[in-house]
Amino acid sequence: MATTPFSGLQTAMSRSCIPSSQRSSVMAISGKSMVGSWNKLASVCHVSSVQPFQRVFTSSTIKFERIVTKAMSDSSQKSLVSGLPIDLKGKRAFIAGVADDNGYGWAIAKSLAAAGAQILVGTWVPALNIFESSLRRGKFDESRVLPDGSLMEITKVYPLDAVFDNPEDVPEDIKTNKRYAGSSKWTVQVYMQSVKEDFGTIDILVHSLANGPEVTKPLLETSRNGYLAALSASSYSYVSLLKHFLPIMNPGGSSISLTYIASEKIIPGYGGGMSSAKAALESDTRVLAFEAGRKRKIRVNTISAGPLRSRAAKAIGFIDMMIDYSIANAPLQKELSADEVGNSAAFLASPLASAITGTVLYVDNGLNAMGVGVDSPVFKDLDIPKDQH
Ligand SMILES: NC(=O)c1ccc[n+]([C@@H]2O[C@H](COP(=O)([O-])OP(=O)(O)OC[C@H]3O[C@@H](n4cnc5c(N)ncnc54)[C@H](O)[C@@H]3O)[C@@H](O)[C@H]2O)c1
Repeated sequence: MATTPFSGLQTAMSRSCIPSSQRSSVMAISGKSMVGSWNKLASVCHVSSVQPFQRVFTSSTIKFERIVTKAMSDSSQKSLVSGLPIDLKGKRAFIAGVADDNGYGWAIAKSLAAAGAQILVGTWVPALNIFESSLRRGKFDESRVLPDGSLMEITKVYPLDAVFDNPEDVPEDIKTNKRYAGSSKWTVQVYMQSVKEDFGTIDILVHSLANGPEVTKPLLETSRNGYLAALSASSYSYVSLLKHFLPIMNPGGSSISLTYIASEKIIPGYGGGMSSAKAALESDTRVLAFEAGRKRKIRVNTISAGPLRSRAAKAIGFIDMMIDYSIANAPLQKELSADEVGNSAAFLASPLASAITGTVLYVDNGLNAMGVGVDSPVFKDLDIPKDQH
C-alpha cells in the first residue's frame, strides 16, 4: 500500500451535502459549535477530497470568521469545513493486546477506525480462540458501532505472545501446552514477518498489554521470577515490538503504549514488580522516542491512563476502589471512559500531534496532579470546590 506522508492540518472539501439555505446558518455558528457540527456533517456528507490546510488555523474569532466568510462566498459550490478533524484515512494500525471489548486496546482500535485507519490486532494466543469466535458470532457487534453508525472492521487478527521473540526462545512446556496448540507464528519476530508479508507496512503501532503473575503480592514478597516476568511481559515486550516493527513502519508513523501512575507514585496493591515495569516502560518511551525518531521519524509516546474495569484490571482485585477513589479525588469527578483514552490515542497517532514524542500523556481526569486525597476526613473543614451544576 502506498505511503502517504502526514499532511498536517486538513480541511475537508465537500460537495454541497446540505442545502445552501441551511449551510449559511450552519456556517454562522460559533467556532466551538462548528466542530460539533462538522462531526455531524461528516457523518452524512460524502467527503470528496482532502487538501492540505493553506494557512495556520488560529482560535482567534476574527481570523476564524474570515475563513468561514471566504468559504461561504466560494462560487465553486465547495464549502470549507472548519475544525480539526483527526484523519487517519490510508493509515494502517497494529494494536497488540486486544482479547475482548472491555479494555483500552479495543477502545483505541475503535477510535483509530473511526478516524479512518485500517485495523489489525494482535491477540494473546491463549485468548485467541474465544476472541475470534466471539467476533465471528457477533458478540462484540454492539461495541463495534462507530460514531457514523458503521461497524469497526478488524482486517486481520494475529496470534501473539509478547514474551517470546523467536520460535527457539519458546520453552518445551509452552510448545506442548494445549492453549497454544493449533496456533503458530506467534513470536514477535515471526508475526511481524506475517504482517509484512500480508500488508507490507504499518503506520501506527499500539502496545496495550501487560502481565504480572505476582501482581497481587507486595513488592517485598515478590519473587525474582515474578518480578522479571512482569518486566518481560509489560516493558521489554514493548521494546521488542517496536524493534521488530520499526523497519516496516512508514516514516511519520506513531507508536503508543499504555502506562499507569503507579510508575511514579505509590499505589498499594499494584505489586509483583508491575510498578517497576511501568516505570521502565515510561523511561524506555523517552529513549525509544530518540532512537526511533532519529532512525525512521517515528514518534513514541505513552498514555498514563486512569482506572478502567478491564479484564486485566479486575484480575488485580481492587479496580472498583480505584475508580471510586478517582471520582472522589480527581479534578474531574466522573468515571473515565475507555473511549477517552481511545480518542487521545487517535490524537497522538494523528498529524495533529506531529511534534509530540517521548511524552507521558495523562488521560486520567487529572488525578495525577493531586498531591493529597481530598476525601480524607482530615480535610472535612477545608473549603473544597463543589460541583455547582
Ligand atoms: N485498566 C486499567 O485500569 C489500566 C490503567 C492504566 C494502564 N492500563 C494499561 O492498559 C493496557 C491494557 O490493559 P487493559 O487494562 O485494557 O486490560 P486488557 O485485559 O484489555 O488488556 C491486557 C491484554 O494483555 C494481553 N496479554 C497478557 N499477557 C500477554 C502476552 N504475554 N502476550 C500478549 N498479550 C498478552 C491480554 O490477553 C489482554 O488482551 C496495559 O498495559 C495496562 O497496564 C490499564
